[in-house]
Amino acid sequence: MTSRETRTQVVIVGAGPSGLLLGQLLQRQGIDAVILERRSADYVLGRIRAGVLEQGSVDVLEHAGVAARLHAEGMRHDGVEIRFRGRRHRIELKALTGRNVTIYGQTEITRDLMDARVASGAPSVYEAEDVTLHDWDATSPRVSYREHGVVHEIACDFIAGCDGYHGVCRASIPLERQRTFERVYPFGWLGVLADMSPPWAELVYANSECGFALASMRSRTRVRCYVQCPLEDRVEQWSDQRFWDEFRRRMGEEIADRVIGAPSIEKSIAPLRSFVVEPLRFGRMFLAGDAAHIVPPTGAKGLNLAISDVFYLHEALRDFYCARGDRALDEYSIRCLRRIWRAERFSWWMTRQLHQFPGDAFSRRMQETELEYLFDSPAAQESMAENYVGLPLEQAGVSMPV
Ligand code: FAD
Ligand code: PHB
Repeated sequence: MTSRETRTQVVIVGAGPSGLLLGQLLQRQGIDAVILERRSADYVLGRIRAGVLEQGSVDVLEHAGVAARLHAEGMRHDGVEIRFRGRRHRIELKALTGRNVTIYGQTEITRDLMDARVASGAPSVYEAEDVTLHDWDATSPRVSYREHGVVHEIACDFIAGCDGYHGVCRASIPLERQRTFERVYPFGWLGVLADMSPPWAELVYANSECGFALASMRSRTRVRCYVQCPLEDRVEQWSDQRFWDEFRRRMGEEIADRVIGAPSIEKSIAPLRSFVVEPLRFGRMFLAGDAAHIVPPTGAKGLNLAISDVFYLHEALRDFYCARGDRALDEYSIRCLRRIWRAERFSWWMTRQLHQFPGDAFSRRMQETELEYLFDSPAAQESMAENYVGLPLEQAGVSMPV
């Protein structure tokens, strides 16, 4: 086995949205980076995940020069609906906050970023095996990996850990240097993707006696729908027929009448978890996106947080390479964590209000009271809307213009 050595400024581990977007933002600043991804590009593109973008995320993608298709094909939504025991309430996002959300799948963002990277000629290595971090705590870190049986080593100034919850970067840090916070929820989400013109104009979140359901979409011809399911369930237990029957039951009339159960083109079960690691910086290694935090999908914040993390990280690296010093690198963790904890709070709150939990009568009354308060109080609706459209990204202490 031969060994080859190269050098770059930043090694990015992971080619999910965090890694690809960071690569694109750095490339536009003239900062060299190599992306190392464990899977194939097709595998990464085949993962069906998030679909809702905050206005701030759209702004960052625009800033990165990858928003042309997003603007052409993304769907702007000015509200979302919450259903609870026969009551329906539209949260007027635009009227309450002046902002909206954009429906555009994570798969499409990933494709746009991959295309931009190929066009720029910047290097990415897919199917990189045994990615290993060396000397991340020293001034000259290195990252090694194996490709086609050949071991490569890249010397760099910084490592960006964009490798998701199960990645190697956080796992390389001794446990005594990390503080982690976690909550695991006692259910999962069964998600189905199907080709069908959405019979709903905006997203509908339903808390029914049978459990949570969400009616979402990816385009004018494709829907994404979810139902809360037991954690132990397997996808094979859920035929399309069973899924659509359950979805209709939970959504209630009007929608149930209009849903013709189209065949699923993807079906998967995701567990729900809240997780944060502190800090996000370990010597010369910086964590971003799901490598640093997980939110339950109820608030649609996972992808948006990944985007804000890498926006802050690219600014900090830009300052370093423009000889503006280390201050932004030193502040990276604190800056991200402020936003991360607020998104964690909101996702936890949405999850608590909208799911059926095994629990006592007091908790059920609290959930009921909370939702009724939300439906009746313009102040509560404004608070929800403000969080759903996304809290503003800060730029060096001031809000980023939108
Ligand atoms: P990831 O997308 O996980 O990307 C990390 C990348 O690193 C992957 O490509 C992985 O293959 C690679 N990698 C891992 N280990 C290594 C290694 N050792 N070496 C090299 N590469 C490595 N959010 C929402 O807002 N709404 C949703 O509906 C939603 N659904 C989700 C469903 C699932 C099953 C999951 C897992 C997440 C979901 N999310 C959702 C969250 C959202 O998709 C994530 O927040 C987002 O993908 C984070 O992007 P990331 O780039 O940080 O991480
Ligand atoms: C999705 O479309 O996949 C989606 C939308 C909103 C959420 C979660 C997932 O809160």
